[in-house]
Amino acid sequence: MSEKKSFHMSAEEFRRQGHAVVDWIAGYMRTVEQFPVLSRARPGEILASLPDRAPRTGEPFERVLEDLDRLIMPGITHWQSPNFFAYFPANASGPAILGELVSAGLGVQGMLWSTSPACTELETRVLDWLVPVLGLPERFLSSGPGGGVIQDSASSAALCALLAGRERATGLRTNREGCDGRLVAYCSTQTHSSIEKAVRIAGIGADRLRQIEVDSQFAMRADLLAQRIEEDRRAGLVPCFVCATIGTTSSNAIDPVSRIAQVCREHGVWLHVDAAMCGTAAICAEFRHLQAGVEQADSYCFNPHKWMFTNFDCDCFWVADRSALIRALSVLPEYLRNQASESGAVIDYRDWQIPLGRRFRALKLWFVIRHYGIEGLQHHVREHVRLAQAFADWVRADERFEIPAPVPLNLVCFRLRAGDDANQALLDALNAGGELYLTHTRLDGRLTLRLCVGQTQTQAEHVARAWRLIQDRTATIAPRG
Ligand SMILES: Cc1ncc(COP(=O)(O)O)c(C=O)c1O
Repeated sequence: MSEKKSFHMSAEEFRRQGHAVVDWIAGYMRTVEQFPVLSRARPGEILASLPDRAPRTGEPFERVLEDLDRLIMPGITHWQSPNFFAYFPANASGPAILGELVSAGLGVQGMLWSTSPACTELETRVLDWLVPVLGLPERFLSSGPGGGVIQDSASSAALCALLAGRERATGLRTNREGCDGRLVAYCSTQTHSSIEKAVRIAGIGADRLRQIEVDSQFAMRADLLAQRIEEDRRAGLVPCFVCATIGTTSSNAIDPVSRIAQVCREHGVWLHVDAAMCGTAAICAEFRHLQAGVEQADSYCFNPHKWMFTNFDCDCFWVADRSALIRALSVLPEYLRNQASESGAVIDYRDWQIPLGRRFRALKLWFVIRHYGIEGLQHHVREHVRLAQAFADWVRADERFEIPAPVPLNLVCFRLRAGDDANQALLDALNAGGELYLTHTRLDGRLTLRLCVGQTQTQAEHVARAWRLIQDRTATIAPRG
């Protein structure tokens, strides 16, 4: 009998190459600091280095790994470098990477409980674990009317929350008939752009997103929110959704969730709280005051893929009333019907998200929580905050700089008093050097540098070196007067 023709990688070959890949990743972890943090690739350079046609015949896997070093690595910006201080982090860790690998190995598509019960039930359990761990309200637990689900991103979580709020406000009419142009959503001028995107996708329209003014600390003015909702009401419009942020992207501003919640309650408007990065800090009791009022939210999300050592993608999203979310998102074709779903005894997470299919993301979060324990996570979060606060103190003590926003946690916004050109020159010089990577924002219309401490391996020496580099470059750009 002739052997069946196959091009597949055998289990034995997979074992061999798998070890090589894990060795490669471990080597990368050890040597990541040797690379310039921000890739130096020019636009189109990586594309031009890749063959313009796919290979007709398969190649030895060793060659693929060689090309990873030769062709791909020059185009990598090293988010896992301890000298990565840009944006918000997207940190990772050994247990998370291994969880991701097992998830890929199992190859589960967990759209329904019945398509892999463990994929659903582990997710439910881990999200329930996190409720008390983060000081979130009991109404988010799956044992009550609420529950948690893992989304790919905070953007998707916000869109789901908005759709639930939209349908609650219109008694599910919008799902049937479409938007009538009267729905209105609210956020602040500092809210992440994902809310504007969600408002566009949901058919509410960017013109119907009210960006409420902020106070001197860049936090939403709850009094202006109330005023605007009342005006809109009087004009015959239908307020349906407010997004409050715990830790805005520009400056880590903390919106006054309690006061915003009161306004939302008075007007029956869905309150979503976005704590994309800062939510992780609530694992430490001393930082929980920043989320005061969250117990009144209709929905809440944070991203373990930012600051909780769980590689992208992983956003935890909770709702106080899961039926509102499910009613907004559930569509049931015949081919998805099954006994377990019909029994009402199981969760089908496909009804809690935009796509049908879903990955087994809970595995990596489970690996992370079990590896670190709550104590381990608290230790590293506290350390990051301590390092950021030390950096802020150094900046405050240097009269050439100013800090234009409060520093509640691990993000420091700072700028040279010398003005935008000097700050741009400083940022460019720092990033061109390759020893670290910072990004910028604008606060009060002025160019402002941001340094966020949240990378898994960042330690005191990295932050101290960042400050030394900043001072060295500043000496040439804005010498002391
Ligand atoms: C406050 C806030 N919300 C939402 C997002 C969007 O996150 P994601 O990439 O998970 O959609 C970010 C990203 O940095 C953010 O800072």
